[in-house]
Order: sequence, then structure tokens, then C-alpha cells
Amino acid sequence: MPRKVTKAIFPVAGLGTRFLPATKSVPKEIMTLVDRPLVQYAIDEARAAGIKEFIFVTSRGKSALEDYFDHSPVLEQELRKKGKTELLEILKSTNMESGAIAYIRQHKALGLGHAVWCARRLIGDEPFAVMLPDDVIAGEMPCLQQMVEAYKETGGNMVAAMEVPPEKTSSYGVLDVLDDMGSIVSVKAMVEKPKVNEAPSNLAVIGRYILSPSVLANLNRMKAGSGGEIQLTDAIAQDIGTGNGVYGYRFRGQRFDCGSKAGFLQATVAFGLAREDLREDLSRYLREMIQLDQAAE
Ligand code: UTP
Repeated sequence: MPRKVTKAIFPVAGLGTRFLPATKSVPKEIMTLVDRPLVQYAIDEARAAGIKEFIFVTSRGKSALEDYFDHSPVLEQELRKKGKTELLEILKSTNMESGAIAYIRQHKALGLGHAVWCARRLIGDEPFAVMLPDDVIAGEMPCLQQMVEAYKETGGNMVAAMEVPPEKTSSYGVLDVLDDMGSIVSVKAMVEKPKVNEAPSNLAVIGRYILSPSVLANLNRMKAGSGGEIQLTDAIAQDIGTGNGVYGYRFRGQRFDCGSKAGFLQATVAFGLAREDLREDLSRYLREMIQLDQAAE
């Protein structure tokens, strides 16, 4: 059986240009779906999958993210004094144990592969997860937990995958499938953002990975050779055909691309409707909006 996965890297050093001007001062990962920042969804998912060490690759201007995971004694004391125990519990669930969280700086946004490479010394020689908080996945069983279960059977490297419309493949890393076993596929090649007519399939890589430390060694070599962005997909693809195969995992759940405005708005509505305290008001409002929209046509 492969070694247990207990460490996760959260690359959050990107510039978030699609959300300017907000991201001028608010890190994208702190933007909230209903009342919780994107990063909280990722942390909860990681915890459910058995992750114990949380490594954030950050950049200049992300201090709000570090503050978010700090204890807030004044606020906690105030809530305790006022007997607001429910809020106190919610607040406590955001605290991280001392030593469980680490921050590494990526000094220049040289790509996702480079961001992961920046955390190499904290990973050492064991398998690790990579989670992109702007991919939010709603499902009965959290996505990374599903992958950890599947990874026990495959070992190697595993990437979350989902079918996308063929005309959208150029926005993703795309899998060339060797053997389709249903929820798990073995991969013979990976292509980053292929031209639509050159995509080997419509099975796209989504922001959840379980990787072998050999990918860090691949990144090491690429770092030495590359001038531009360092792609994680390329470093994973280099493991194909070695003892560490590459597998795609078709997760069960709905993925929202919260790195884009449309995806973020859709997630806000979906998570709002999933909340008992908000459902009625929100769905009434949405119905009214649709009626108004239809009347105007
Ligand atoms: P994106 O491609 O969404 O880029 O990165 P971005 O900078 O966050 O956003 P836009 O496109 O400018 O709006 C995917 C993930 O990889 C991280 C990002 O923080 C995000 O979680 N990333 C990307 C890094 O950590 N470092 C990089 O150099 C690039």
C-alpha cells in the first residue's frame, strides 16, 4: 500500500488578475462564498482527507490569509462574554493547531509548477496533495477524500479529472487516456491547454492532486532549464512510464471555478441555496429575477 498522504500544498501566490480591482488588496482565497472564505472550504476538505500539515505558498500582499488562521483572542472573549456560543464554535473551527500550518514565499509568479517546487523542503520524500482553493467542489464525500481512497489502490500520481465541453479544453490540462477503468483512468500523456482540435480527450485536470515526491525532482530539473512559466502538468507527465504511473480520477461532485467571475457567482448561488437559513429568501428572489428577465425579453 502507498504511504499515507498527510501533507498538502496550497498554492495561493497567483496575482488573481481576473478579480481586479478587488484583488488589489484582498487575496482571492479570502473572498467569501456566503460567509466562509474559499480557503476554508479547501482546509475542511483537506482535513476530511486526513491531511495534518498545511503548506501555503504565498506572495506579497497575502497577509490577510495568514491572519485568517490566527487565533483572535479579543473577538473570542467578546463572544464568550455575550454568550454567543454558536459563533464561538464557528470561529474556533477556523483556528489551526500551532505548527500545523506553514507559509512559504514564492517571490515571483513563475507558474503553478514553480509554486509547488517552492515547498519542496517541507515535503521531503513522501507523497503529498496539492489543492487549488479556487476550485471549489461540492459533493457528499469531499473530493480529496475520494482521491485518497482511490490512491490506496493505484499509488503513483493522481489528478482529479472531469469531462468538460470539447470547446473548453483549451483552458485546462487534458488527459490522453491509456485505459479507462471507470472512476480511475490510467494516463499515457498530458497536454497543458491544447488547441481545441488538438485535445487528446475532453477529460480535464481540476485543482486536486496527489503526487509522488519524484514530481518535485522533475520540477527541480525543469527549474534549471526553463525561462518562462513552470507547468505542474509537465512535471507530472514526466512520471508517465516510470514506476510512478499517472492516473486521472473522475470525482463525484460539482466543481465550481471560483477563479472566474461567472463560476464564483454560480457557487455563491449554489451554496446559498444549500443553506437552510437562506434557501427560501434566495430562491424567491431568483424566481422573481427570472420572471422579470423573461418579461423584459
Ligand atoms: P491561476 O491560473 O488561477 O492564476 O492560478 P491566478 O494568478 O490565481 O489568477 P488570474 O488568472 O490572474 O485571475 C491557479 C492557482 O495557482 C496559483 C494561484 O494562486 C491559484 O491558486 N499560482 C499560480 C501560484 O501560486 N503561483 C503562480 O505563479 C501561479
